[in-house]
Amino acid sequence: MLDPKNFERTINDKQTRLLVLKNDKGLEVTISNYGARIISLVFNDVNVIPSFPSLDAYASAIAPYHGATVGRYANRIAKGKFTLNGEDYSLAINNPPNHLHGGPVGFYRQVWDVENEFQNSLVLSYISEDGEEGYPGTVKVSVSYSLSAKNELVIEYTARTNAATPFNITNHAYFNLNGEGTILNHQLQINADSFTPVDKTLIPTGELKKVQGTAFDFTTSKRLGEHITTDEEQIKIGGGYDHNFVLNKEEEPLSFAAKAIGDKSGIVMEVFTEEPGIQLFSGNFEATKGDASTYRNTFCLETQHFPDSPNQPTFPNTILEVGEIFTSKTIYKFSGL
Ligand code: GAL
Repeated sequence: MLDPKNFERTINDKQTRLLVLKNDKGLEVTISNYGARIISLVFNDVNVIPSFPSLDAYASAIAPYHGATVGRYANRIAKGKFTLNGEDYSLAINNPPNHLHGGPVGFYRQVWDVENEFQNSLVLSYISEDGEEGYPGTVKVSVSYSLSAKNELVIEYTARTNAATPFNITNHAYFNLNGEGTILNHQLQINADSFTPVDKTLIPTGELKKVQGTAFDFTTSKRLGEHITTDEEQIKIGGGYDHNFVLNKEEEPLSFAAKAIGDKSGIVMEVFTEEPGIQLFSGNFEATKGDASTYRNTFCLETQHFPDSPNQPTFPNTILEVGEIFTSKTIYKFSGL
């Protein structure tokens, strides 16, 4: 059980607290307005987003992105540089040599305002000022979390800007559908015929490579860990999976992206999204964070636009323009086997 008091702090003159959402089917999600983040998600009595006991872990280097809303640009921008409308921009290099997840004080480290709060839904908002983390334009962003009667967690983002800016937003939940233990025996399917190979610094090369015949072929369900120790160059670069998959789009805008099954619990999680990509991250760096026993005990499926899009003219556009209303929806749906 989480003690709400452990999550109450004053940061930048704003109060952080826990907010609990429930549907009438027993799905329960706990959110903190610190980083608009998911702290836990309990389904069939299993917490499939393993929690840290207090805000301190999330505010430190232990779990900065865990469950958080990540922006202004989720994932990497090569060397923190991009050119927009003839201007060169330089962002903080917080993952040398690149910029990662919006920078050292991205959306995930901000206290969001609670716009409204109901039993099964809430809306959080944040104003990211012009120049924050080096990005142009003031962006007003909101995220809504709601639980449906079909045991779906529905996440919807909206954003507006007063100057053109790169914008890519995701939720960075770390899942374990068994609640604990290795994730390597989870079954995983990803609805993607290709992925974006990366260089040694995890920046896409620009190629869209077919998954067929590679360790990246999750087009039919297989064990998540099946190829994780292979010698394939791309796996070695990521130290496991840390790659963006190019989603097949059978339906627009919301389409099936991925399905994972906990081998012990039988819990099934299906992901649907309007985003063109999904990052599979197999917790490759977690061993370096102090507790080796948690290594590969969680994985991420981050719906997103492709990494480094501001520098990749062939990737789907990530520039949010003045007057445009950005909207994007992702659903995580839970069921038994
Ligand atoms: C992922 C990213 C990884 C790693 C992780 C946070 O989204 O792809 O490379 O940075 O976040 O530790």
